[in-house]
Amino acid sequence: MHEDEHEPWRACPSERWRASTAAMAEDNPEAPASTSSTWGGRFEEPMDAVALRYSASVDVDKRLAEQDIEGSIAHVTMLAKVGVVTGDEAATIRAGLEKVRETIRAGKMAWSDEREDVHMNVESALTEDVGDVGGKLHTGRSRNDQVATDMRLWTREACKRTAARIDRLMGILALRAEGTVDVLLPGYTHLQRAQPVRLAHHLLAWAEMLERDRGRLLDAAKRMNESPLGCAALASTTFPLDREMTAKALGFDRPMRNSLDAVGDRDFLVEAVGALACAAVHLSRIAEELVLWSTQEFGFVVMSDAFTTGSSIMPQKKNPDMAELARGKTGRVIGDLVNLLVTLKGLPLAYNRDLQEDKAPVFDAFDTVDDTLDVLSGAIAAAAFQPEKMKAALREGFLDATELADWLAARGVPFRDAHHVVGHLVAKAHASQRTLGELTLDELKAEHDAFDESAFDALDMETAVERRDLPGGPAKGRVGAAIAELRERVGGRGIDLTALANDTRSEP
Ligand code: ARG
Repeated sequence: MHEDEHEPWRACPSERWRASTAAMAEDNPEAPASTSSTWGGRFEEPMDAVALRYSASVDVDKRLAEQDIEGSIAHVTMLAKVGVVTGDEAATIRAGLEKVRETIRAGKMAWSDEREDVHMNVESALTEDVGDVGGKLHTGRSRNDQVATDMRLWTREACKRTAARIDRLMGILALRAEGTVDVLLPGYTHLQRAQPVRLAHHLLAWAEMLERDRGRLLDAAKRMNESPLGCAALASTTFPLDREMTAKALGFDRPMRNSLDAVGDRDFLVEAVGALACAAVHLSRIAEELVLWSTQEFGFVVMSDAFTTGSSIMPQKKNPDMAELARGKTGRVIGDLVNLLVTLKGLPLAYNRDLQEDKAPVFDAFDTVDDTLDVLSGAIAAAAFQPEKMKAALREGFLDATELADWLAARGVPFRDAHHVVGHLVAKAHASQRTLGELTLDELKAEHDAFDESAFDALDMETAVERRDLPGGPAKGRVGAAIAELRERVGGRGIDLTALANDTRSEP
């Protein structure tokens, strides 16, 4: 009963408001019509059409259907064990849930906005099938613990899937490194040619970055592996639920310790998406090097046609679009992380509807990073590195200056003085457009009398690399061992490198 006339403080009588939003909804044929309330006895009026559309999440959260059904099966099985429902009732509900699962897998589910989210869509489909007994499934449960459980289950598996994709890319890097151990190229600091390194060493650096991303994802998966189920709306429930049983059935390590926390926090998603954001940043840096290396100015790599595009106006162009997009899409993933953090900031305990907004950024971050991993895996497997261009780049830029300074330092000259002496020699060579090796012994001696003929031996790039024979260094033996270790590491995680070598068309 509404008494709008006697309630002048009521801003807009609900009937009038409804009429106006209904008129607006006519402009939007996709907007669902408002219907009688789903919310039971407390509600007299149907939900407003705009409010319904605004709050419905099923379009996004239907991706949780498998987890939702798995959670419900665990819950109802436990309800029977503790005697809240009978064994027969549980069996009927389980069979019904399995039927709903089949319908969804077959793509035949009639998802409806009016049922708001995945949880209520599944439950309604169940009740339509099995009748009133379906209503017993939700005993001792709330959508608050249900959705928190679903998200933990979904994200736990997603972390593992993404980690496996990272392993695959690491496997590809191991294979590419194996084929490029003898290729030298300039290593850079400040994007200035600095010292020579092996291409394989550079590729292995990428693999190390990815190794940590993988670790972060799996750490997150481990920490999130606790069960919110049984915490109900916020304060658990009066039913004698066996939370250990449902936790175990769903592969969780234990039930969460505090019901308010269990339904109220999404830090586990922040951790997962944080790990993804870091992975995306690493992939972006790798992509940036591919873009740079495929310029005419560098020419260190020719990307395969399969991962490049042409220009609609300039016939000569071959653009590294996939690498550029990998770099560009990183913004989305960082945005997803910020989105989650801002959503959580300022939320009081326990559940708040704001939390519904967690799903889109989480799904987007996983989808984007998974696709980026696949695209870069393909592009790197098929890229043609250009050893001659790399070698040519080593000839200019005085990458051997440190060798000469080290040569002096090894003969007792304080390194600071040696640095100064070689600086002069670089200036002299630069002024006369020569390399250090093209200076005469007299010119060397003019700067420091410790120089003798053997100093020129230090100016060979291969020697320079080979003398860097420390753990983590670019000497051939070290790089070979690092490749073998990486092969073993990813092999132990189920990456079949022989098969990978066969299905990736790697050029030289
Ligand atoms: N769709 C909701 C979400 O994702 C489910 C929980 C709704 N709970 C509630 N009290 N309205 O957060």
